[in-house]
Amino acid sequence: VPPTIIDCDPGVDDAHALFAAIGARHLSGLEAVTVVAGNVALRHTRRNALRIREVAGLDAAALPVYAGCPGPMIGALTDAADVHGADGLDGAGLPEPQGEVEPIHAVAFLIDRLRRAASEGRRVRLVTLGPLTNLATALIMAPDIADGLLEVRAMIGSAGRGNITPAAEFNAYVDPEALERVATTLDAAGADGVPFYVYGLTLTHTVTADRTEIARYATLDSRVGRAVAGMLGAYLDRHRVAPLPGMGGAPADEAPLHDPCVIADLLAPGAVRAVPGRLRVVLHGPARGQTLASFDAGDEVGAGSRVIWMVEGDAGRLRAALFSAVSGFS
Ligand code: BDR
Ligand code: CA
Repeated sequence: VPPTIIDCDPGVDDAHALFAAIGARHLSGLEAVTVVAGNVALRHTRRNALRIREVAGLDAAALPVYAGCPGPMIGALTDAADVHGADGLDGAGLPEPQGEVEPIHAVAFLIDRLRRAASEGRRVRLVTLGPLTNLATALIMAPDIADGLLEVRAMIGSAGRGNITPAAEFNAYVDPEALERVATTLDAAGADGVPFYVYGLTLTHTVTADRTEIARYATLDSRVGRAVAGMLGAYLDRHRVAPLPGMGGAPADEAPLHDPCVIADLLAPGAVRAVPGRLRVVLHGPARGQTLASFDAGDEVGAGSRVIWMVEGDAGRLRAALFSAVSGFS
């Protein structure tokens, strides 16, 4: 299992993903967390990462947390407090954290850690669950760090419609310039590029939690199980919108497990179908943040950066992998 860093903006589904990654560390390889502004402001995402670490029973030595960029590369932050609650983890019932973030910036940490990975020949897997501001900034400051990356797996974008606008998925919309920078830099790195796995809405809207699934978490009889059940319940209350055409058919009373899909795929390898193709980001106009997907096998003219689109999966297997990982806490 490669050493793994999760860059995130917790956020209810980020928190669920983190609990699963911590609960199954032998499979996820998780060694550090970096946070960015996204679902809520940076002061909330960093506090939430610490609260998650502590309720999971870890301290700074076991899982350091680094705070990163407070907003996108251009313009002001658009948040998603309407979905995740004012502090980003509504319903989780987590106490104030006792610990602190590390004294260096997440971007500086990523640069140091990836350089070390390159020099030691043990490359790092980066999982991103929020806007790509931290990684894009690191790649601008130190393009050589691509040599330390084994792969990047990102919950971002959509091969179809969006969720924050008809065109754009939230993480792509918040910082489209960062996504553009990451996609082009990874594609251009080395001889073959760094593999960039894109888990977009096309997949995540098919991997949902209904009230029954949420109630199962409540039966776990652990603080983590109760936190997941509480926050997914609040998230689902906010999500109860009419299903949109072209959104993979997530029913009205089921919440898409966006970020956990990436972790679930690590825990249940092969559960998501990987389709090589290209990604292009729309930077201007009403479709700002839209990701255009082309597939090597299907489109006559491919345009954009090489990526691996993670388009459809075995929802039952993915859900089971998440539940089993979260079941590990006492
Ligand atoms: C993404 O946006 C955020 O609200 C979620 O945490 C997820 O990363 C889904 O579009
Ligand atoms: Ca997220």
